Amino acid sequence: MNHLIEKYNVSVPRYTSYPAMPFWQTEHFTREKWLLNVKKTFQSENKLSIYIHLPYCESLCTFCACHKRITRNHAYEEPYINAVISEWKMYLACFEGVPEIEEIHLGGGTPTFFSPENLEKLITSLLETARVSPRHEFSFEGHPNNTTYAHLHTLRKLGFRRVSFGVQDYDPAVQQAIHRVQPFENVQNVTRWAKELGYTSVSHDLVFGLPFQTLEGFRDTVQKTLSLSPDRLSLYSYAHVPWIKGIGQRGYSEENLPTPGEKRRLYETARGIFEQNGYFEVGMDHFARADDAMFMAYREGRLNRNFMGYTTTQARLLIGLGASAISDAWGAMAQNEKNVDAYLESAATLPVVKGHIQSARDLAQRKLIQDIMCRFTADLSGQEPDDLTRSRLLELEEDGILEISGDRLSVTPMGRAFIRNVCVVFDEYLKEKPSPERTFSKAI
Ligand SMILES: C[S@@+](CC[C@H](N)C(=O)[O-])C[C@H]1O[C@@H](n2cnc3c(N)ncnc32)[C@H](O)[C@@H]1O
Ligand code: SF4
Repeated sequence: MNHLIEKYNVSVPRYTSYPAMPFWQTEHFTREKWLLNVKKTFQSENKLSIYIHLPYCESLCTFCACHKRITRNHAYEEPYINAVISEWKMYLACFEGVPEIEEIHLGGGTPTFFSPENLEKLITSLLETARVSPRHEFSFEGHPNNTTYAHLHTLRKLGFRRVSFGVQDYDPAVQQAIHRVQPFENVQNVTRWAKELGYTSVSHDLVFGLPFQTLEGFRDTVQKTLSLSPDRLSLYSYAHVPWIKGIGQRGYSEENLPTPGEKRRLYETARGIFEQNGYFEVGMDHFARADDAMFMAYREGRLNRNFMGYTTTQARLLIGLGASAISDAWGAMAQNEKNVDAYLESAATLPVVKGHIQSARDLAQRKLIQDIMCRFTADLSGQEPDDLTRSRLLELEEDGILEISGDRLSVTPMGRAFIRNVCVVFDEYLKEKPSPERTFSKAI
């Protein structure tokens, strides 16, 4: 296994979109084309998912690769909420008919930086203008250090049934290094409250590959996590991308990070313990209990993947609201202004700053990559692979990562660790123009 880790630990996209953002052909994108795509997709199904980016955090965790702004000033909350509502109204004006909301996800930054009252105002303003799908999935990311009972209660009342809490690691040495001191009791309390209030899916985020992480310490983190019985788990590979996030990730040196082999062992160890305790691996980075909707969607082949990560809903139109949020209309993708002040100024008049219009070929490759990421298998019948693709597939097959039988590609259980390397074979943009090393995080 070690030689495979060495061979495949290269910089590759995470494929929440295709093409990956560095390959977007922004020169062919216009706001008019974007709105036309939104209208077209809306007309064909009237339903949508909404992602809302809430960027503020009270304190900087130095490992964090999310788009955030650090402040303790809560006076920012209200103007930001108002800007998001204006942005939503701008989209509403281009829909013909009342939208049906399948999914709302509040991400960040830290959604629980905002008061329950402000979150209620935000969600109510959206829901007043739409129908809620009977199959709706509303979820939010809660920081265990500042999620209150009132946050959980307010959002539950508004239809939220899923919450994910950022845990990362309980080891005090790791917590100190990443500047995120977070007692177990905080996670215990928020998890208990969520369950008492009737949240049907409580998830914990863990990260492997963090500075000073050891097998023994991470085993303890995994055991503590199991003791709280979350319904789902995210086990993220630490994305070390200091060139993107500036000084945030430079609070420790690369020497303090586990080696690629050690990192893989951290993952394998956690995976082994989770699987022995009734969790199943679902797609990349995720585990769920057999009675969780994500596992059921995976088993029935209904799992999807978009900018929010894995999702069980089916809407093809994803509207991203807020600074840096990304939208997807299955035909075009667009990203909002990242700078919070500039976003606040432009929210009401379409804050989109860049995007990509997808060709029919893009959409076919996207579907194939999505099948690999969500189902570990794909139908190659429409592909007509060139010599390079054929030889790469053969190499992956010889390395035991995948099997091909007729037109059917299947990733082997061992090969799941290398799933991003399998997707790369079908990435025509990367084939044409290999990315420089410092563009994506490493595969392992
Ligand atoms: C927006 S944060 C979660 C909400 C809240 N801000 C918190 O920290 O609890 C989303 C998750 O992204 C993951 N994450 C952030 N930076 C990462 C990185 N560099 N590599 C891998 N995962 C990362 C963490 O697991 C984190 O819980
Ligand atoms: S991990 Fe969460 S709280 Fe920490 S900086 Fe990132 S988004 Fe903010």
